[in-house]
Order: sequence, then structure tokens, then C-alpha cells
Amino acid sequence: MEQPGEPDPFCERIRIRGFPTQEYLGLIFAYLGEGEPPSLPRYPDFEGPGLREVLTYTRHCNYFNSIDNDGIHVYFVHRSPGRDWRNWNGKIPQSTPIETEYGFGSVGTRRGSEGTARGMPNISFRIATDQYTTLHDAPRMDHLAWRVPVDDETHTSFNVALVHAYTDEEVRRYHEWQAEFQALGVSEETEVGLIAQTLRGELDYDSVDLPTEALITYQDHVTQQGQGAIPDHENEHLGRTDASVILRRKAQSRELRALAEGRPLKQWFPPSRAAGVTRGEEQQSDASVAP
Ligand SMILES: [Fe+2]
Repeated sequence: MEQPGEPDPFCERIRIRGFPTQEYLGLIFAYLGEGEPPSLPRYPDFEGPGLREVLTYTRHCNYFNSIDNDGIHVYFVHRSPGRDWRNWNGKIPQSTPIETEYGFGSVGTRRGSEGTARGMPNISFRIATDQYTTLHDAPRMDHLAWRVPVDDETHTSFNVALVHAYTDEEVRRYHEWQAEFQALGVSEETEVGLIAQTLRGELDYDSVDLPTEALITYQDHVTQQGQGAIPDHENEHLGRTDASVILRRKAQSRELRALAEGRPLKQWFPPSRAAGVTRGEEQQSDASVAP
């Protein structure tokens, strides 16, 4: 900003680079590219009435670990003795992943993941169903998140929740629920300690017992960071249930190749309810429990 000891015109020539920013949905978006910024993609499903909440967290692994986190993980990563809250009954349902105008979705009757759309390049989008709220005793919330790389080995997730609370009474009830939920939770310090102990092999994953939401966060952190900050994809054995991972990686490679070779990229649109995302009673998401 200033160099008080330096004479003019030297300090007059020194500039800090600035970037255009825009505030939207409680977050500040910066355009880090050259020239005029393109128009900011809009998410009308999150602009309407209701209470918007913003939450961020940082994970010490590459952001692709999060993007690769297919909804099917809910059935085994979040398994817990006595808490079969997905009514899994030992069966992993099947569905078919598809590439869409926004990114990736799936068709089929699998519970637990279809509700989450994966928007290109790093977006998670979910509109809540009533069924979801009864599972967690939580108010109905829609979720939108961007997994943003900090560097190769760290990413931060920026999450927006649109809480379906419209009247003063509904807002009061939501804050009550939030206070109860926070009182149940464990401190971040405790959680970080448990994650580190597990990754060092000093604590058994299946033996950790925490309130549900804290347990889910613990499980996601352990499994995403446990794959390695930059996982070894060369020696993976991708199977039938990894179809969505394979589809996404192929599309990402295709687009990156086009970018490198100067060819036109696919025009992606932001995920939206209007695009046919997150429909159907059987379609619940892991997004809000597994951001
Ligand atoms: Fe998860």
C-alpha cells in the first residue's frame, strides 16, 4: 500500500495486483483470470426467501479427493454399529451416472446420493427432500458447496445452506435446533485430534463414538485424508460402483486436454432444480451430512 522510505517516482510505479470481486449468497467470489470477468453463475434456488448460512472447512488433501467422494460411500464410510440410518440392510443399490449440462448426475433408484448433483468443476448441489429432515431431526436445508484448492495438498470447502425457515417462529425454532446441535457437538480440537490419531493407526475407526453429525465429519475427514494428500491413482482398482468416478475423470481429462490444445471447452451451466436435479422421494443426498 505504501513505501514510506522510498522516493518518488519509484514507489509510484509499484502496484499490488487487484482482482474483481462480487458478493453473492454470503460469499465473496474473486475473478483471478485475465481481462473482464465473465458473468457470475447464478443459483436461483438459493436466492429465494429463507435463512442463508455459510460454513467452511479445510481438509488436508487434494480437492479431487472430495470431488471423487461418490455418494455410494455413505453405505460404508458412514456405517456405524446400531446406526443404520440409511436402512442399508447390507445392500448397495445401483444407479447409472450420467453427464449433464451442469456436470454429473445419476439415474436409478439408489438412495443416498442421487440428490447430490456434481457441478463442473468443483460444485456440490443438493435440494433437500422432506425425507431427509426426518432422518436428522434437522430443519429442511438445501446445500451448495465449492471445493476450492488451496494448494496441491489442501482444499477448503465453502458451503451455503438455505434453511427453509421463513417466519419469525420458524427462524426461532431453527436457532433453537442449532444451539442444541452445537451443544451436542465435540470441539474442533477434539475432532482434529481423533482424526490425526486414526490416521497414525493409534485409534480404530470403528471404535470411535461421537454424536452423529460429529461422527460423520470425522468419518469423511479420515477417509478423504487417509487416501493420501495426493492419492496414487495409478494403482487403483476401480470397480462397478466407481462408475461415476470414472465418468467424471474421463470428462475432466477430456476438458483439460481441450484446454491444453486450445480447443473449445464444453459450455457448462450451474446446477439447478430446473435442470432436473434432485427429484424424487427416494433420492436423498449425502451432501449435507458429508460435505
Ligand atoms: Fe460422507
